[in-house]
Amino acid sequence: MMDVRAPIAAAAPTLHPRRADPCAFVIFGAGGDLTKRLLVPALYNLMAAQLLPDDFAVIGVARNEMSDEEFRRGVGAALREFATRPLASKAADRLLSRFSYVQGDFNDPATFDRLKRRLAEVDRACGTKDNSLFYLATPPEAFAPVARHLGEAGLASRKPGSWRRIIVEKPFGRDLKSACELNERLLAIFEENQIYRIDHYLGKETVQNIMVLRFANGMFEPLWGRDHIDHVQITVAESLSVENRGKSYDRTGALRDMVPNHLFQLLALTAMEPPTCFEPDAVRNERLKVIEAIHPLTDDEALGDVVRAQYTAGDIEGRRIPSYRSAPGVDPNSVTETFAAMRLMIDNWRWAGVPFYLRTGKALAARKTEIAIKFKSAPLVLFRDTPVDSLTQNLLVLRIQPDEGAALHFNAKIPGASIRIGGVRMDFKYKDYFEAEPNTGYETLIYDCMIGDSTLFQRAADIEAGWRVVQPILDAWQERGSRDLEWYAAGSNGPEGAESLLARSGQLWRSVA
Ligand code: BG6
Repeated sequence: MMDVRAPIAAAAPTLHPRRADPCAFVIFGAGGDLTKRLLVPALYNLMAAQLLPDDFAVIGVARNEMSDEEFRRGVGAALREFATRPLASKAADRLLSRFSYVQGDFNDPATFDRLKRRLAEVDRACGTKDNSLFYLATPPEAFAPVARHLGEAGLASRKPGSWRRIIVEKPFGRDLKSACELNERLLAIFEENQIYRIDHYLGKETVQNIMVLRFANGMFEPLWGRDHIDHVQITVAESLSVENRGKSYDRTGALRDMVPNHLFQLLALTAMEPPTCFEPDAVRNERLKVIEAIHPLTDDEALGDVVRAQYTAGDIEGRRIPSYRSAPGVDPNSVTETFAAMRLMIDNWRWAGVPFYLRTGKALAARKTEIAIKFKSAPLVLFRDTPVDSLTQNLLVLRIQPDEGAALHFNAKIPGASIRIGGVRMDFKYKDYFEAEPNTGYETLIYDCMIGDSTLFQRAADIEAGWRVVQPILDAWQERGSRDLEWYAAGSNGPEGAESLLARSGQLWRSVA
């Protein structure tokens, strides 16, 4: 019997990626959650996959007084708590032995003098070849000051034969103006090709697979555009509420938090033209062209084609979730949206006239990220004299997470004497074919930065293009205060306004749960 899990065609011979270059990995914000939950486990996974260089050191920088030994103990505890795979104690010890600590305030030049001395020490001790990667795992207010101090300490400029790179976390600005300012301040110190702006969605395997699915399969391209596609739905639904992030989330909201970054990455990969090669700029230029082609929203569209809402109390998977306004750190009269949905049009030859509907929210019925591509209906004429009174539109669903895979929904004849039609589904699940080690999603991003591959990172222009699209929405909401803010119960599919957005063209969102 055929093994359904065996790949249908022989895969290309496995390429063993090379180990990353010797380098020092400097983490600003080494005591924070990001470091503990994601960066340290990701480094462990890279080491286990033999992708870290032998000549490697990690320097944590943070404000707390701590010895190297205490720092290593803390990192070890984090690794035991958050590792995504069983730990081999020898390997964990080997990794931890590379960690050291520099205490200091990010606004104090003396911190950067100490860091410079430590970098010279690890260069001698570990052979890091004067290559340094600075990871800004800090609150966003620290991004520009850290970059400036690195510049002033002479740590931003590379010597011949070595490299200096900086990874900048999200959020990158809170609107177009602040994002441009941050770019300007970073670019005053680092060159564009030294700056790696992270969007962790691009680190997800299933997100990267969108390009492979589209461009490694001849059958999709002829259908991929306005002649055959009715509309596209992009959903990033979370069942988690705002939990303990109330204070920072209340200043951010769903639009800033998710749309110009994560949702636009999904949109760009779905709608981009095929690049001519996998060179970083070839791919990034195509992604950028899509975002630049989004039809700028007029004031009326920014209100009429965009919905915002906040969750009230409700139940999710049997748990009672209190309203957003009663979450710790949230203003009890907050008008911050925890849900946003919108209709965008892409003004280019491929997509003119095809609406892209985007929605994202917290405390929804389920966690689900997917891209649903709805095709135009087949004409009914053939079935006019049968009991069939409508044909369901074909649908291709790319499931990004969880339950990663893809499904094609189409019509088939229900067995029987008369013509009756039922919807059926062909389903591909990653886990049926591929075994993947569980990971944090940061492995590829860190590794790519260490080998100088910036394909999965954002340039200044990419970030600014995203903000340019959402700026009219931010302006319109600012002007309207709490007017138009809708409500939805925690555990639901979102507010009614989101449903109406599609109902206007006779369509329905796919259910979140
Ligand atoms: C982050 C947002 O960028 O992405 C969070 O700040 C959100 O609010 C998270 O929860 C979602 O990421 P993922 O990988 O869980 O889909």
